[in-house]
Amino acid sequence: MRLYVNIDHVATIREARKTDEPDPVEAAADAELAGADGITVHLREDRRHIQDADVTALADSVHTVLNLELGAHADIVRLATRIKPFQATLVPEKRQEITTEGGLALRKTDRRLRSAIATLQDAGIRVSLFIDPSVKTIDIARALGVPAVELHTGRYAHTWRRSDAALTGLRRAATHAKEIGLAVHAGHGLTYQNVQPVAAIPEIEELNIGHSIVSNAVFWGLEEAVRRMKTLVITARNP
Ligand code: PXP
Repeated sequence: MRLYVNIDHVATIREARKTDEPDPVEAAADAELAGADGITVHLREDRRHIQDADVTALADSVHTVLNLELGAHADIVRLATRIKPFQATLVPEKRQEITTEGGLALRKTDRRLRSAIATLQDAGIRVSLFIDPSVKTIDIARALGVPAVELHTGRYAHTWRRSDAALTGLRRAATHAKEIGLAVHAGHGLTYQNVQPVAAIPEIEELNIGHSIVSNAVFWGLEEAVRRMKTLVITARNP
């Protein structure tokens, strides 16, 4: 099980003052020291947190791997092919949303998405699609020829205290995705309180977690926040 730490909100704090601190490159190095298996950033079309220069600097400095989240916009896809992160995770993006609200609405005939996948793969970048945990959507992802999907855990994160239904859905989706040959990632809304049942799903090999880690870094420091999350993820898998 890999823990990829999303450091977007380090840049959110910096952009609140349009200054040069805190530095996402320094955050990535601290997260790696604490056991992060990868660093994730989302280069949004509106550039509200991570900037192009951050992605370039991170591509040079990250010692583990860089996972770049992006919408299927031609200019950002082009930028990704120049920077060549290890992995690109295609996400839906709406300008006004607070965060990525749902998975990609996949259609086999979506020319923009197909073109983004082809361009990224031609550049040697591993492509993952961020989708809702639905068997039908997973089948379309497979047909689109990607090696991996990231299951959106947002519904689970909103409902886990009162119902097991979303967790059951995630388990079913993960099993199906693995059975048809896809690597299974997951993320969104995972916290120190709710991460373990998801981390315990055996088919899931990568978690992307950002907001909760950066939030708790305010109190514990980033290294400690990553260390504690990594411990929870590992112990959920090997109790
Ligand atoms: N995975 C994807 C595809 C995302 O868009 C995000 C949010 O940027 C995350 C994971 C991390 O979500 P959170 O910040 O809630 O941990």
